[in-house]
Amino acid sequence: MDVTVRPSAPIRGRARVPGDKSISHRAAIIGALASGVTRLRGFLHADDCRRTLDCLRVLGVRIEDAGAELVIHGTTGCLSPPPSILDAGNSGTTMRLLCGVLAGQPFTAAIDGDASLRQRPMDRVAEPLRQMGAGVEAREGKFPPLRINGGDLHGITYQLPVPSAQVKSAILLAGLFARGDTVIIEPVPTRDHTERLLAGCGVPISREGSRVRLTPAVPQGVTVEVPGDISSAAFLLAAAAAIEDSDLVVEDVGLNPTRTGVLDVLRAMGAAVTTETVRGGPGEPVGTISVRGRRLRGTTVAGELVPRVIDELPVLCVVAAAAEGRTVIRDAAELRVKESDRIGVLARGLRVLGASVVEHPDGMEIQGGRLRGGTVDAEGDHRLAMAFAVAGLFAEGPVTVRGAESVQISFPGFFATLGTLQGA
Ligand code: S3P
Repeated sequence: MDVTVRPSAPIRGRARVPGDKSISHRAAIIGALASGVTRLRGFLHADDCRRTLDCLRVLGVRIEDAGAELVIHGTTGCLSPPPSILDAGNSGTTMRLLCGVLAGQPFTAAIDGDASLRQRPMDRVAEPLRQMGAGVEAREGKFPPLRINGGDLHGITYQLPVPSAQVKSAILLAGLFARGDTVIIEPVPTRDHTERLLAGCGVPISREGSRVRLTPAVPQGVTVEVPGDISSAAFLLAAAAAIEDSDLVVEDVGLNPTRTGVLDVLRAMGAAVTTETVRGGPGEPVGTISVRGRRLRGTTVAGELVPRVIDELPVLCVVAAAAEGRTVIRDAAELRVKESDRIGVLARGLRVLGASVVEHPDGMEIQGGRLRGGTVDAEGDHRLAMAFAVAGLFAEGPVTVRGAESVQISFPGFFATLGTLQGA
């Protein structure tokens, strides 16, 4: 599907975004392993999280969709051998987190994905799960489909070689079934939703500096209010920041500090960004984000900031292409193994739109200026489709996005929401 986005008036109004994708996946999986019933409100009904629910159902979990609430009947950690191969579709989170769960089950299961997921590295989860005692076979030792022969795990101490919350979560989920404690050392902090959810379900888990320690336990079913996804809000926030005289408020959005790097980068670029925490406590902080648009300037994104902004880098690069001065993205090689090679596809697309971009193995340099407009291909990547669409709001001419249907992966209703905010 092609969608054409035209230059926009300032972005104004109040918006809400669909539920947080990372939290939705985790809450469903942990609910499936819990004792008793887990109720999820605000679950993200989008393709990626639907894959997780479908896989859990194939593993024998009863899940009721009661309108505003998803009711998950916990299995106390005992899933059923799947009668068919599990299909994670486009969803890396589904595949990697379920690998951790399957490693702890006393049966063999296979999991596959779409053409994009089949190119993404899975050795990063296979290796620690093997160390814990699971059998994991992968195509060419690295890629899906995977075959997991689970059961009889022991805890390990494992230092993450790449900063990845998916890998950390897979190990923690496997650790629920292990003999002894599991300790993960993460040199660079990554999103900690799994830790927060497990703690909320009564699992002994603690952090000391860069070490996370989990003691095996059965989680208890709880009620989870899933906040709006800051990674989805980022497209609206970045658009508002880049269009002068915009004034946007996004309500009921997650403000977990491991995810708010996008706000720091927009501030560094000169945008006026404020937050107000409405719900805090031991769970997930949730609140309101307000942005006023200004003429933005270039910035540098590198080091420990990168994991806190990894999914928002595409839209920030688009905004940078229309800002004043140079933006440098470094230490972000992980972008090359996301739903697409996001560095390559972004650099190509931005050049088509008239930007001056130098590509590096771990990032890019963007010389800000004017974007002309044109036709760009999102190459099936949901975040690139939305990032290129945002370019159309402030380019000189229209931007046509090829493959725009991919927004269904994480933000169904993206184009409708954008429409209601233009010139409101
Ligand atoms: C996610 C972690 C990140 C992120 C992805 C979702 C998660 O991936 O890019 O969109 O839910 O844990 P990595 O763990 O590969 O960094």
